[in-house]
Amino acid sequence: MMYLGVIGYPIRHSVSPAMHNAALKKAGIEGVYLAFEVRPEMIKDAIFGARALGFAGLNVTIPFKEEVADFLTLEGHAALLKAVNTVDLREMVGYNTDVYGVKRSFSDLDVGGKTALVVGAGGAGKAAALALVELGATVIITNRTESRGMEAVELIRRHGECIFYPFERVGELSGKVDILVNATPLGMKGFAQALPVPAKILKPGMIVFDTVYNPVDTPLIRSAREAGCRVIYGIEMLVHQGARAFEIWTGIKPDVDVMREAAIKALKNSFIHSA
Ligand SMILES: NC(=O)c1ccc[n+]([C@@H]2O[C@H](COP(=O)([O-])OP(=O)(O)OC[C@H]3O[C@@H](n4cnc5c(N)ncnc54)[C@H](OP(=O)(O)O)[C@@H]3O)[C@@H](O)[C@H]2O)c1
Repeated sequence: MMYLGVIGYPIRHSVSPAMHNAALKKAGIEGVYLAFEVRPEMIKDAIFGARALGFAGLNVTIPFKEEVADFLTLEGHAALLKAVNTVDLREMVGYNTDVYGVKRSFSDLDVGGKTALVVGAGGAGKAAALALVELGATVIITNRTESRGMEAVELIRRHGECIFYPFERVGELSGKVDILVNATPLGMKGFAQALPVPAKILKPGMIVFDTVYNPVDTPLIRSAREAGCRVIYGIEMLVHQGARAFEIWTGIKPDVDVMREAAIKALKNSFIHSA
């Protein structure tokens, strides 16, 4: 029996259990994936306790992605970002599959040489910025808190072209960016239903990626579609980061269509229940 799970605080609305349990079933693996709300002062106990109980792996979400790095050997992107979203508890290795999730979300598109504006400099913003510079784009990061945005730029600049632009002046970039990424909670259920940038930034043919996946159709996705942009849904990043985590734990490539279907179904249910 394979035990897997996700830890965070809070964790109530996670769709990861639905997504991973569907993938386990499809792959014919006897296992279960559960969500655990861990109080911040218990995080170290939770990691070592899960290992002691024989869990094979965990996903890690807000607010623990950076803290768990202290207990683990970090691999690849986790080492570059000092942020972990996937743990192999058998080896005590931390991975960051969010970067892979972003890259796969752009896999149909050629972003090399393009200019990308990333709004937000938290975990998702840094993962998106790193993925895009690795794909050959020039990245402009903007963030409400300038110091945090500058820190992210310093980190990403080691791996590609990256600059900061002040959040209040971002409208000045109208006509100058090819890709827009929202990596703030704006548009997410329970947060302000607002656009992360002035609407005039949205131009026909632009690629717009909203990392927010709940709801699937965010205000940014709707406005971008109306403006003639090509849209990428946050659910793509969610599914692909999950698929990579699944592969790390099981050695098997999961059925991503089954995972996407399960995630969308769980999102629809969570929307109805809390409406
Ligand atoms: N699709 C996926 O798989 C996936 C994975 C992870 C995250 N996400 C999405 O990404 C979002 C951010 O997650 P995270 O882990 O990066 O969170 P985080 O580390 O807490 O960072 C949040 C970012 O959003 C900014 N922000 C928050 N409220 C804002 C507001 N009202 N106006 C402007 N900026 C605001 C913050 O700016 P300050 O620095 O000024 O606070 C910060 O840059 C989440 O809401 C989630 O929807 C999606």
